[in-house]
Amino acid sequence: MLLFAALAAVDFAQIVHHAPIQNEFSDLDQVFNSSRGTNHGIYNSSFVPSSRYGEYNFCNMPHVRKDTYSQVDQSEYKLQFVEVIHRHHKRTPYAQNCFPVETLVLHCDDAVNNYYSEFKTPAQINNTMKISWANYQNRYNPFNFIHNGYNGTCQFPEISSAGLEDSYQHGLDLYGVYGELLEFLPARYDPKQVRFRVTNNVITSHVVSAVVKAMYPHEKGIEVKVEADGFDALEPTYSCEIADAIASEITSSSEWQRHLAKAADLYDELDDISGVDPNSKDWHQSFDHYFDNTAFRLCHGYDLACNSGNSSLCMTQHQAEQIFRLGDFEYNYKFRIHENSTLYAATSYGAYFNELKHRLLEKANGRSSLKYSHNVAHDGSIARILGFLQVDYLRWPGMGSEVVFELYEGLNDGEWYLRALYMGRILTTTGPLVETDMIPLRDFVGYIESMIGKDAEVLVNYCG
Ligand SMILES: *[C@@H]1O[C@H](CO)[C@@H](O)[C@H](O)[C@H]1NC(C)=O
Ligand SMILES: *[C@@H]1O[C@H](CO)[C@@H](O)[C@H](O)[C@H]1NC(C)=O
Ligand SMILES: *[C@@H]1O[C@H](CO)[C@@H](O)[C@H](O)[C@H]1NC(C)=O
Ligand SMILES: *[C@@H]1O[C@H](CO)[C@@H](O)[C@H](O)[C@H]1NC(C)=O
Ligand SMILES: *[C@@H]1O[C@H](CO)[C@@H](O)[C@H](O)[C@H]1NC(C)=O
Ligand SMILES: *[C@@H]1O[C@H](CO)[C@@H](O)[C@H](O)[C@H]1NC(C)=O
Repeated sequence: MLLFAALAAVDFAQIVHHAPIQNEFSDLDQVFNSSRGTNHGIYNSSFVPSSRYGEYNFCNMPHVRKDTYSQVDQSEYKLQFVEVIHRHHKRTPYAQNCFPVETLVLHCDDAVNNYYSEFKTPAQINNTMKISWANYQNRYNPFNFIHNGYNGTCQFPEISSAGLEDSYQHGLDLYGVYGELLEFLPARYDPKQVRFRVTNNVITSHVVSAVVKAMYPHEKGIEVKVEADGFDALEPTYSCEIADAIASEITSSSEWQRHLAKAADLYDELDDISGVDPNSKDWHQSFDHYFDNTAFRLCHGYDLACNSGNSSLCMTQHQAEQIFRLGDFEYNYKFRIHENSTLYAATSYGAYFNELKHRLLEKANGRSSLKYSHNVAHDGSIARILGFLQVDYLRWPGMGSEVVFELYEGLNDGEWYLRALYMGRILTTTGPLVETDMIPLRDFVGYIESMIGKDAEVLVNYCG
């Protein structure tokens, strides 16, 4: 027991936090600066004119795309493997983020989601059929209008049809770069070379259905990987007590409490408008719920919310911008600013980095036919990756936000190199990797091992 504790203490010292650069979401005076105009970035449409592509857009974050992609010198380096991970696209809010009564009538009938089983044995192949969920509003269910405030036929959450369009475009753009421009992807889908993966949350499957169709239009259906719910590394859902303990340490820190206290008036105003119980802990321990509710409306072109009993009591644009700044502050604080945020990312997302490391090494060692691994995940997944790598500048990873790891072989020296892209550009950090632009693979692997151990034994030790 004593030995165990001593080992953990030694390993802990290896995870060194490097503070991010100061930005407008680091400093509460700036976060609450009421004379500020609108925030940098877009919150009210998926569309961005080409001249502005690359700007932060919460509704549809920039990703790898032909016109902005910077190519590596192909006479010197050969692309050998690509790992893509991105957040799902825009959706309805989670049920817990809906106001007690929502005044919008919301229908999601222009797309159906399919959930069904199919035998793999040829003899039984016809013994099941495709089943689609027809969302239905049951007027005899007395709880229908109580559980979430929306009148209509949507699930909370589900990817909206506009979010499916963004997913399809995301697939086209990725294929535009890795298929057409670089001629790297196989022209026909081949599961030995190309692999897609989702989390247990069905919205990631909604998204991948459009992404894959855009990339491989001739396929009728494919299998995507999914891990068991209890230890899914991608979402992540594996349990790690120390990660939970650090998370609550972060949200009970004086700085976190200070931002909530400074927001007391804003909370009162918002609770008046929304009808949310001012004593609800869920709504008042972070801005997560107000953010999700408000971003959903604006991203889908709806007006800001009004009180259900008084249509002239409405959220203002000013309040919405303040909610968004607070959301950015919270992500920045939890995943980058707090001294233990790196430890938090390492413990809560180390399992994904362990498998990523092995995929890269297996490729470099000639033991893998896989060329392209594509994961659809969540804001928490992307934030943890950025925290783990110690990105220099963090805002809430918006819809579709994407990290790409590209593995190259040096044609002149036979060495392996790694490049990481975020928002379609080189990912820059304040950590030891500095700019993840053609860094030796061994440095990247060394960094991962410094965080979780050679074969995740430090991670297991922490979490166990
Ligand atoms: C508040 O924002 C205004 C306008 O951008 C700026 O001039 C001022 O310096 C800011 N105040 C603080 C305390 O950051
Ligand atoms: C989105 O907001 C910007 C700035 O706040 C505004 O100029 C633009 O017209 C809005 N776009 C839509 C589609 O509402
Ligand atoms: C399943 O249905 C298809 C299409 O009707 C048919 O061609 C095939 O022979 C069937 N397979 C079996 C095992 O019944
Ligand atoms: C739900 O919306 C429909 C269509 O607008 C309306 O007829 C119905 O009265 C609404 N139900 C409630 C409970 O608000
Ligand atoms: C409705 O809200 C407006 C704007 O806040 C307020 O002036 C008005 O008194 C409210 N009406 C009622 C009936 O509460
Ligand atoms: C960071 O975590 C360590 C180990 O749990 C703890 O001793 C330390 O107080 C934490 N730092 C802060 C600023 O909370």
